[in-house]
Amino acid sequence: MSQQYQHDVLVIGSGAAGLSLALTLPAHLRIAVLSKGDLANGSTFWAQGGVAAVLDDTDTVQSHVEDTLNAGGGLCHEDAVRFTVEHSREAIQWLIDQGVPFTRDDDPDHEEGSFEFHLTREGGHSHRRIIHAADATGAAIFKTLLAQARLRPNIELLEQRVAVDLITERRLGLTGDRCLGAYVLNRHTGEVDTFGARFTILATGGAAKVYLYTSNPDGACGDGIAMAWRAGCRVANLEFNQFHPTCLYHPQAKSFLVTEALRGEGAVLKLPNGERFMPRFDPRAELAPRDIVARAIDHEMKRLGVDCVYLDISHKPAEFITTHFPTVYERCLTYGIDITRQPIPVVPAAHYTCGGVMVDAQGRTDVPGLYAIGETTFTGLHGANRMASNSLLECFVYGRSAADHIVDLLAHIPLPEGLPHWDASQVTDSDEDVIIAHNWDELRRFMWDYVGIVRTTKRLQRAEHRVRLLLDEIDEFYSNYRVSRDLIELRNLAQVAELMIRSAMERKESRGLHYTLDYPEMLPEAKDTILTPDK
Ligand code: FAD
Ligand code: SIN
Repeated sequence: MSQQYQHDVLVIGSGAAGLSLALTLPAHLRIAVLSKGDLANGSTFWAQGGVAAVLDDTDTVQSHVEDTLNAGGGLCHEDAVRFTVEHSREAIQWLIDQGVPFTRDDDPDHEEGSFEFHLTREGGHSHRRIIHAADATGAAIFKTLLAQARLRPNIELLEQRVAVDLITERRLGLTGDRCLGAYVLNRHTGEVDTFGARFTILATGGAAKVYLYTSNPDGACGDGIAMAWRAGCRVANLEFNQFHPTCLYHPQAKSFLVTEALRGEGAVLKLPNGERFMPRFDPRAELAPRDIVARAIDHEMKRLGVDCVYLDISHKPAEFITTHFPTVYERCLTYGIDITRQPIPVVPAAHYTCGGVMVDAQGRTDVPGLYAIGETTFTGLHGANRMASNSLLECFVYGRSAADHIVDLLAHIPLPEGLPHWDASQVTDSDEDVIIAHNWDELRRFMWDYVGIVRTTKRLQRAEHRVRLLLDEIDEFYSNYRVSRDLIELRNLAQVAELMIRSAMERKESRGLHYTLDYPEMLPEAKDTILTPDK
């Protein structure tokens, strides 16, 4: 039997964005935080490099803003960039206060009174400004925030709960457009429960799983983007899919990222013959923004017909490598690669969704009562290419501003009453799950081949044709069979893929992460690609 729940705030997602929002809200509110797998299911747990922020006295807000604007290919919204960077120090202080064990600066020349934590460097940053916990920053942040959330009796942490769709007044045939909560599959019972809430937050992460090869964990399916779209929210700039230049290339290594901080600390990229190639592509060489490095690697791999290139940090002292990069060192060693002595085979893989649900500085979407924060959003911060380590920062800054806004409105919003149960009377159990598995593979392969690092109009048209066929098949399946996590994710991935392809086809230029052979030049005017759903 399906259940009905009521909360003041329903947070869909237990990553950096969802947990920081929940912890910032007052302790008298009843808050539910959902994760569709275990609580560590999102990308946050896997983040390596760190969080970008203006922390050192020699760094400035203006410099961080300018670096972000430069990396963003003319498409960042300067107000969003400034807002985020101006709040960066406060966000880091909040994390330190929560107890995140950031790596301290043990440099013997460290000056008395200067910033006490070690700051590393990554592509596009003109200063050392990445605070980190060795090379496992995400795990350190996640564990700390989760431990804090567990201490708060007002926060219910619910695992294995997959939000299927948002409940809006429009969906229920009522006047108004407000979001009233969500229908959520409980994977323990197999039932779809009804969660009513005064405020609903999408903190569902990105959609890089739409590609065959990705650095992301399995849950990165764009669920929040697809749910928001179906609920009537605009989405923007979904053609900008970031490919991380250096994921480990090994037959047994699934999705393992080799952090950009290695390049920040001096690692160089080499061809199989040992030749360093990045200086041929950009004066910043290995520390150019990601779009440039990933495209250069893709170009060299295609030119030479090789399966990977190599990232080499073996010229640094072994102790430096094992202290700064213990996670990468250990993981590579399990595959027989000793990074203190050997170069690491690497390839680019889908990493980050720069576009998403359109929100303002308070995380408000187009639907009243519905907020979105973190990777699922488009705030204007990243433009056509996200700068390294700005993503976690965005989660914390917007998590806080959305929480503050909710607090301001609380007194005026009642708890929704009498929401209808999920109607499962017309569906049966599927005996054709092979269709779901096949469609997953097909979708992710054609997105990789046709909507990848380098695009053409012809390939995009092919992808568009295929995604439409898939959407029809999935719709039919969804109408006839009981929902499962795989089906919900496939439905959302296909929806987001369609929006990505449509956005890519609308952009008749090459800018940042969107590079097409048919329009290799950048247009003089930078415009967002905004898609509006039919209502
Ligand atoms: P996530 O952490 O992805 O969490 C999403 C949550 O939503 C999960 O709890 C998931 O279960 C839940 N969810 C999703 N759909 C549903 C649904 N339908 N129902 C219920 N729950 C749902 N960024 C940096 O700034 N610095 C870095 O060093 C860095 N390194 C990275 C390394 C790797 C390997 C990866 C993959 C990413 C990295 N990034 C980094 C990017 C950054 O980690 C992410 O952008 C960020 O963690 C996203 O946080 P989030 O809270 O928005 O979502
Ligand atoms: C990395 O550590 O290379 C990832 C950083 C990021 O995605 O911002």
